[in-house]
Amino acid sequence: SIDQKVTELMAKMTLEEKIGQLNQYNDDITATGPITKDADKAGQVRVGKLGSILNAIGAKNTKNWQDQAMQSRLKIPLLFGQDVIHGFRTTFPIPLGETATWDMNLIEKSARIAAIEASAYGIHWTFAPMVDIGRDPRWGRVMEGAGEDTYLGTLVGKARVKGFQGNGLGNKDAVMACAKHFAAYGAAVGGRDYNSVDMSLRQLHETYLPPFKAVSDMGVATFMNSFNDINGIPATGNKYIQRDLLKGVWNFQGFVVSDWGSIGEMIPHGFAKDNKEAALKAILAGSDMDMESRSYTNHLAELVKEGKVDIQLIDDAVRRILTKKYELGLFDDPYRFINEKREKEQANNPEHRKFAREIGAKSIVLLKNENQLLPLSPTTKKVAIIGPFAKATVENHGFWSIAFPDDSQRIVTQFDGIKAQLDKNSELLYAKGCNANDNDKSLFAEAVETAKKADVVIMTLGEGHAMSGEAKSRSNIHFSGVQEDLLKEIAKTGKPIILMINAGRPLVFDWASENIPTIVYTWWLGTEAGNSIADVLFGKINPGGKLPMTFPRTEGQIPIYYNHYNTGRPAKNNTDRNYVSAYIDLDNDPAYPFGFGLSYTTFQYSDVNVSATQLKGNQTLTASVTLTNSGNYDGEEVVQLYIRDLVGKVVRPVKELKGFQKIFLKKGESKTVSFNITPEDLKFYDDELNFDWESGEFDIMIGTNSAQVQTKRVNWEK
Ligand code: IFM
Repeated sequence: SIDQKVTELMAKMTLEEKIGQLNQYNDDITATGPITKDADKAGQVRVGKLGSILNAIGAKNTKNWQDQAMQSRLKIPLLFGQDVIHGFRTTFPIPLGETATWDMNLIEKSARIAAIEASAYGIHWTFAPMVDIGRDPRWGRVMEGAGEDTYLGTLVGKARVKGFQGNGLGNKDAVMACAKHFAAYGAAVGGRDYNSVDMSLRQLHETYLPPFKAVSDMGVATFMNSFNDINGIPATGNKYIQRDLLKGVWNFQGFVVSDWGSIGEMIPHGFAKDNKEAALKAILAGSDMDMESRSYTNHLAELVKEGKVDIQLIDDAVRRILTKKYELGLFDDPYRFINEKREKEQANNPEHRKFAREIGAKSIVLLKNENQLLPLSPTTKKVAIIGPFAKATVENHGFWSIAFPDDSQRIVTQFDGIKAQLDKNSELLYAKGCNANDNDKSLFAEAVETAKKADVVIMTLGEGHAMSGEAKSRSNIHFSGVQEDLLKEIAKTGKPIILMINAGRPLVFDWASENIPTIVYTWWLGTEAGNSIADVLFGKINPGGKLPMTFPRTEGQIPIYYNHYNTGRPAKNNTDRNYVSAYIDLDNDPAYPFGFGLSYTTFQYSDVNVSATQLKGNQTLTASVTLTNSGNYDGEEVVQLYIRDLVGKVVRPVKELKGFQKIFLKKGESKTVSFNITPEDLKFYDDELNFDWESGEFDIMIGTNSAQVQTKRVNWEK
């Protein structure tokens, strides 16, 4: 068995070789954190001082590294880790955008393809999925997660792990997934990256931990801890969450890698006086592999010799890492992922591109279409596309994608995608209008002239592609630079405008919401961006995306999320400000609620039907609605189920997503959509962390988004 093989191998290892397995360095080609230069990294590999390398890509490069490892005494293969976040050679929508599909099959397939391509380039391990719940759009990393909701985020996390790990690590197109960032990184105060987190354990367990627990239960290979402190203890040195909870209560069998340098960062946190103490605290807490801080390689041996670290802790960490190397088949063939032929085959896979086009279109969210300007007829005589993203290439990748030298030739621009679907007798005009993020208005006049010549103007605005992601927190989440001014100038021409918003987070665009009747949210869609966008604009695909985060009216509303508590003084309506929980200068509701998204067709919901209004014990309640496609197009609708527990021993949210179904209906068609609800769906954590449900009244709500629901009340006794 693998266990036996690991035991035999460990019996041959010196302490230094064991510690080597716990050490991960960056390749020097690219960096996703502050760089430390090392003398002779290859030499360190040859003496067994390194277990893993991150950011080494490509058969040639990884082969070269593995060759070094094969010269070490015990020939233990290296693990190659990489941030494969939303596709690899073929890029897909940013994860927040993919989540807007609410389609777990698509999301799983996207991760599957990413794994097929990445593994063909020598990669064993992706640092994904990020399953942090994100309720603060100022935080740049919301682009990498599944939004604000725990239920949805859990399903997305599971789908992505399944996709990455495929049929199991023994297959050479499977990569190890990594659930990150453990834990509660999404709750950094003020949405400022790397900032502290202070929250009740009840909230930690109820809102932030379930996606981690779910992927641990399904066998995710690895976890990454996080930069933040949790209630005063840095996650990296946090024994409660890593050793007690993850490895103890949850019985996680994989290994935990630190985030980049996070062991050493316990010094500026004020939790360790030097790297030696940081190494001590991290290993005691259960961090197995040190990404880039060099604390383990420099101090662990000494700590063991001084008796401060029990060798069993080192052995446990080494065992976890070696087990994964065996499971990946690397001891049978250290080069099994390294194959130039395979790499070539996956360099530009047309099937993968086809899928990118589909998932791109399905990630788009239609926010407004008041005058039914969309879908646009391909025979529209003169269409203008204006904005800094119209002819953008690599920008369409969004943040967290790997740059390849041929990117600009492979990516379909928005201009090209639209042009390809316009009738040959029609014209597509173009003006850049402004840059994504500066104060230069010198291109405005030309853009206005271009708009004047057109029958319809597509404005493509948003935030720069590198303005979301790691270390990309923003205090002002409006369109960047002078883009809103450009929009106002173009609007003055009176031409019909389709506003297309490119972003890695919910942006604030109240002026546009009030003044532009047609708005489409496109996130960053990846390699096939232009084609996906054109498919939706011209109606080949009827948009069905739904927002995975609440969109605030202004930054002042943040954090804003649909599943808040009611408070003792809830506002009666949107403008109620009379000594209630509200702002005196702002409506209470968001710009667009969680779960919101329109279609070119319309859907009617009947009242909610429930199978019983008095329930007892472990019964199952069936709640259903009749959904009718009452418009002029076939289309898809995400029917959403929310529940509210009216009274509890701790206060409960005003609603919580408990189910959804994506339903396709031809125009004129109706269908009954049913949800089965059991007491499992009513459970919550109390203040002593008991997870159970209570007798009482519950509102069962079904609707098209979190703000528009039909409700039935039931009573459920234990
Ligand atoms: O995986 C990332 C992590 O999410 C943030 N810091 C750097 C890591 C490696 O690139």
